[in-house]
Amino acid sequence: MEELQVQHWPTPHLNLIELPRSHEERAFSQAVVDGLSKQQKTLPCRYFYDLAGSKLFEQICELPEYYLTRTEQKIFEDNSTDIIDALGHELAIVEFGSGNSIKTRLLINAALKRQKHLHYIPVDISSSFLKASSHALLGQIDELSITAIAAEYADALPIIPAPKEPRLFLFIGSNIGNFNRAEAVSFMTKIRKRMDSKDRLLISFDLVKASHILEAAYNDAAGVTAAFNKNLLARINRELGATFSISEFDHFAPFVQEHSRIEMRLISKCPQYVYINNLQREFSFEQGEYIHTEDSHKYTFQSFAEICRAAGLEIQNQWLDKQKWFAVALLKPREI
Ligand code: AVJ
Repeated sequence: MEELQVQHWPTPHLNLIELPRSHEERAFSQAVVDGLSKQQKTLPCRYFYDLAGSKLFEQICELPEYYLTRTEQKIFEDNSTDIIDALGHELAIVEFGSGNSIKTRLLINAALKRQKHLHYIPVDISSSFLKASSHALLGQIDELSITAIAAEYADALPIIPAPKEPRLFLFIGSNIGNFNRAEAVSFMTKIRKRMDSKDRLLISFDLVKASHILEAAYNDAAGVTAAFNKNLLARINRELGATFSISEFDHFAPFVQEHSRIEMRLISKCPQYVYINNLQREFSFEQGEYIHTEDSHKYTFQSFAEICRAAGLEIQNQWLDKQKWFAVALLKPREI
């Protein structure tokens, strides 16, 4: 086991725990070789989020077609107090994939209407993002203390502090949609196993709707999602010395009914070869062949409830927007 690095920052209210990720570069090259060697070429969506990709994602959230962020934001604006009240006691907040914490702020403020002080524990793989958003939060909210954990979710789980207050775990932003059913059940089970009877898990998910609405959200007119998708190839060029000519690939994101998901694809416009210098490997593409870069699953109330059940959780409460496009569910460990 590598040693745990605990850094204490000048602000007494911030404790940053960084789990070493020394194999990060090798993990990326390995993921690229593995993914591009498959019959159906794939690349893992987690690699979208370098600095350029994270900025493009923030732009996606502002797009007129991308209803997800604003719909979820509105649900939190309308129901934060209700959500916090559903727990009925003081709490600490743990968040997976905290990103820029904008929606979380609403929950933090709602909690601070009921309790004097709040312990917030964000977990994110990007330690620079974590530091920046933690400092921003602490600068604005005095009653907060933060334990920020820079790590992959699975690595973070065993070291998440258990303050005396029950914990509200957050997995919002419809990030659950990137998992297939088995992965979702497995991740939610891991969280449930760490939960006490008074702890709760808040998960948001995007609902199935007319496919033209779904497809517009992932094939926006301004081409921001296309740039976001293609940035993955640009990143492989930058970090692994590859020769992808980005303009020879098309972005396409269809709604695949059979799997109830949007699939992000990069389609080769012509027969071509790409050489990846750091891997000393060449990959060929036929015209029309595509790399599958992301799944974004869309749920029915039934399909989501079924995943919860399989993970040993039950839905205590659910909040929706007026159009029933998006949902936020409060889950508790199922009693056996
Ligand atoms: C961050 C996974 C919720 O699936 O909608 C946005 C990522 N991909 N546009 C989503 C994404 C293309 C997003 N999530």
